[in-house]
Formats: sequence, structure tokens, C-alpha cells
Amino acid sequence: MKVAESIAEFRKLRADLAEPVGFVPTMGYLHVGHLSLVREARERSASVVASIFVNPSQFAPTEDLAAYPRDLDRDLALLEAEGADLVFVPEAEEMYPDGYDTWIAVEELTTRLEGASRPTHFRGVATVVGKLFVIVEPQIAVFGQKDAQQALVIDRLIRDLGFAIELVVAPTIRESDGLAMSSRNTYLEPDERVGATVLRQSLLLAERLYADGERSAKMIRSRMQELIASEPLVEPVYVSLADVTTLEELETIDRKALVSLAAKVGVTRLIDNIVLPPGEGLL
Ligand code: PAJ
Repeated sequence: MKVAESIAEFRKLRADLAEPVGFVPTMGYLHVGHLSLVREARERSASVVASIFVNPSQFAPTEDLAAYPRDLDRDLALLEAEGADLVFVPEAEEMYPDGYDTWIAVEELTTRLEGASRPTHFRGVATVVGKLFVIVEPQIAVFGQKDAQQALVIDRLIRDLGFAIELVVAPTIRESDGLAMSSRNTYLEPDERVGATVLRQSLLLAERLYADGERSAKMIRSRMQELIASEPLVEPVYVSLADVTTLEELETIDRKALVSLAAKVGVTRLIDNIVLPPGEGLL
């Protein structure tokens, strides 16, 4: 496995890779969820590229950029064991040189859900992912359904800018009690870690109500909110049942829907989602 820190060095090593190339962008501090994306990329590609870059432009000034967990040596060992061929690990100055002034904004889709509470977040994500696509030149890119709106934003970006990249959205990998794996789970205090399982439970409640024939989004939303409110350590930010393409809130679940939520558990902001009907993919 090769590691490149600069764009020039990366391009030299990229030229030797067998095609097609599958790409998994990450911010590091890798867990089994990230590694499942690498596995997915390996199954579909002749070579696998991963990137590790804690992208400053997707964090608001009030967010956890400086505190974001990092462990590069461990990440590289995990990627090597998973069979990655080339890893790009730029410093911020390499991605955002002095005077950097070019941004990619996916507009309508980013006004809702995560974008509503984090107004500059997706501009940072779209810009860094667009730049990584230009540098890495992958034929396949693998993202996690865990960040469903992000995957939809990348889908829009690929179509709008005409990237010749197949987007693969891989399922959310969970801890044994159902909590979605996240680098941010390491911030949770033991009691918060227990309380956080209510988020997955509320998604399962939505799935159960749907299976029983409930189609009122308002009804399902309020039952989910009620369940989350029963856990005092968890403060919901939003609970949404939305059209899976536009992310507009639904009144009636008469089409494929994204059930998604964000919540503060202590200082930690967590997100999770499912798609209805169960078994349907995000895209
Ligand atoms: P990061 O949070 O490190 O996530 C990297 C990729 O791993 C994303 O596609 C995310 O959806 C996926 N992922 C995270 N947790 C997962 C889980 N439990 N199961 C399956 N996949 C999971 O998302 C980002 O980084 C950044 O925004 C990035 C795209 C790298 C741009 O900076």
C-alpha cells in the first residue's frame, strides 16, 4: 500500500493503478463502517484508493474540528489490512492553498435536514469531494447510507458536473445494540452511550408502524419524538420523513421515504436514518 501526501505525488502513484479504481473518501479514525466501504470498493474495482482528510471547510467555527479524533498510524494499518492500494493524506494547505477561492454548492438539496442546522457544511463537503474526484479520477466512489443526505448531495454533484463516476451507497454498519458506528461515538459518556440507542429504536418504531399499515408521516414522526423524549440524555434536533429524492417533508408515505433524525447526546451530535419501504436502497 502506497501513501501520498501531495497532489503531485498522488498523481504519479495513481498512474500505476489498475483500472477501474474504486475510491473511499474518509476523515479517518476508521471504524468497521468505513472498512465496509473499502471492502465494497475492492469487490467492484481492480484498485482501491482511500483518502484521509479532516476537511476544515465542512466544520462550522462552533464545531469539533480541533477535537475531531485522529489516529493516522492505526488508520493506515487498517486500510492496508483491508487491501487498499493507495491512500491520499493531504495537509489542509495542500487542499486549500493560500488564496483558495473556489467552491461547489449544491443548493436546494442542502437547505433541508443537516443543511438547515449546518448551513455551510455541504458546501465544504461538495467542494472537497469534487476536488478529490478531480485528483483521484475514480470510476467508482463508495459512500455510506449513514450520511444519507451527503450521499444524495454527492449523487447530485456527480450528475450536475458530469463526473464519469458510479456512486455506490453502502448500508449503515451498527454496534451490536443498534447504534450506528461513528467516529463521534467516542465522545459519548457511558450513560450517554446507553441513552443513544433510543435513536435506532425510534427508527425501528417507524418501520414497525409502517409495516402495520400506518402511512401518516405526522403520526409516525410524533410517535418517534415521543419515544426519543423518554430518554432524558437525548435532545432531538429533527425527526424527518421526507421524499428520498428531494428531501421535502411528506404528509403521507405514498412513495420511497427517508426517515432521518439528528440529536444532541450531551455535546455530541448524532445522526441516523432508514429508508421506507424496508429493503429499498437510498438511490
Ligand atoms: P467520514 O465521517 O469519515 O465518513 C466517511 C464515509 O464513511 C462516509 O461515506 C460515511 O457515510 C461512511 N460511514 C460513516 N459511518 C458509517 C457506518 N456506520 N456505516 C457505513 N458507512 C459509514 O463523511 C465524511 O467522512 C466526510 O464528509 C467526507 C465524505 C470524507 C468529506 O470530507
